[in-house]
Amino acid sequence: MQTLLLLSGLLASPLLINAAAVPADLFQSATTTIAGAEAAVSRPPVGTHDGLAASNTAASPFPAETTAGPPPPAEKPVKFAPIHNPHFGPPAAGFEYKYFQEPGESLELGHYDIRYFHGEVEYEEHRETLRHLIRSYLTVFQHLGVETWLAHGTLLGWWWNGRIMPWDFDLDVQVSISTLRYLGENYNRTLHTYEHFDDGDQEARSSRPTKSRTYLLDINPASATLERHQGLNVIDARWVDTSNGMFVDITGLAERAPDYSPGVWSCKNYHRYRTRDLFPMRRSEFEGVPATVPYSFEAILREEYGEKSMVATHWQGHHWAPNLKEWVKDLEAQ
Ligand SMILES: *[C@@H]1O[C@H](CO)[C@@H](O)[C@H](O)[C@H]1NC(C)=O
Repeated sequence: MQTLLLLSGLLASPLLINAAAVPADLFQSATTTIAGAEAAVSRPPVGTHDGLAASNTAASPFPAETTAGPPPPAEKPVKFAPIHNPHFGPPAAGFEYKYFQEPGESLELGHYDIRYFHGEVEYEEHRETLRHLIRSYLTVFQHLGVETWLAHGTLLGWWWNGRIMPWDFDLDVQVSISTLRYLGENYNRTLHTYEHFDDGDQEARSSRPTKSRTYLLDINPASATLERHQGLNVIDARWVDTSNGMFVDITGLAERAPDYSPGVWSCKNYHRYRTRDLFPMRRSEFEGVPATVPYSFEAILREEYGEKSMVATHWQGHHWAPNLKEWVKDLEAQ
């Protein structure tokens, strides 16, 4: 697995965000143990699913585990409807299947995995769900020694205050395409349990984490191909909260055309990056846990969202409160 990029290998230029931006209690509640992940890391990186499951018996300070195998029975059966578009060269089978299925296409419903969806998550709860999603994802990936970095709106939230913007519905991270292949071969459809403190529960802080959530890492088989086809599979992998279906979208970057545009990385959705804007990555923090961001994060954000994304202090019914270093919902500010 020479293609697995270890965190330590590429990191340089440590960069710290203002630690005051993330309240101290967030650091505390980020205390997690992923026993299976730790156990897996000490194994050769080419372990099979069976091997990964067997490693779960390792003793752990917390009863957390990482298990391999198919996810628990879905609430709704997953239907992979065959869609054939005659205008595109069809993939080998003749049809393009959409691997990840959502309960609907609207902004709201498009942000849930159909297998675990039981209804929309309220504004108050959705931010907590997203926070645990990204913390668990970053923590588990760090345990696995797999390089991943913040992207898109998640990177913009990091730029402002190291936190998720309250109007966001999902989270975006990127990996290299060789990392995707590695994840597909070793961690496809694995479940990861993450323990955390109840966000509102100060009492619990002195003892052990009281809550746990289980996440599914699911790798799209289309991630193995460089072609976009009909665009039904531009999301290469997902990290899904099995309690409500919310997720982190994982996309892979590759130098898709090294011959005529060397040094240009892109995902299947045509987001393009120069090698020197991505690497070496910078070490930082996001929502109170260690996180990695691309080297030229400002250039990347400017290209994707424009200069105003780093200047405008009123956005999506929220305003930036400089003293709090927080985005505050407009109504609550009255
Ligand atoms: C992941 O597992 C599912 C279920 O077995 C399978 O359909 C899918 O093709 C797998 N993904 C990869 C990348 O092998």
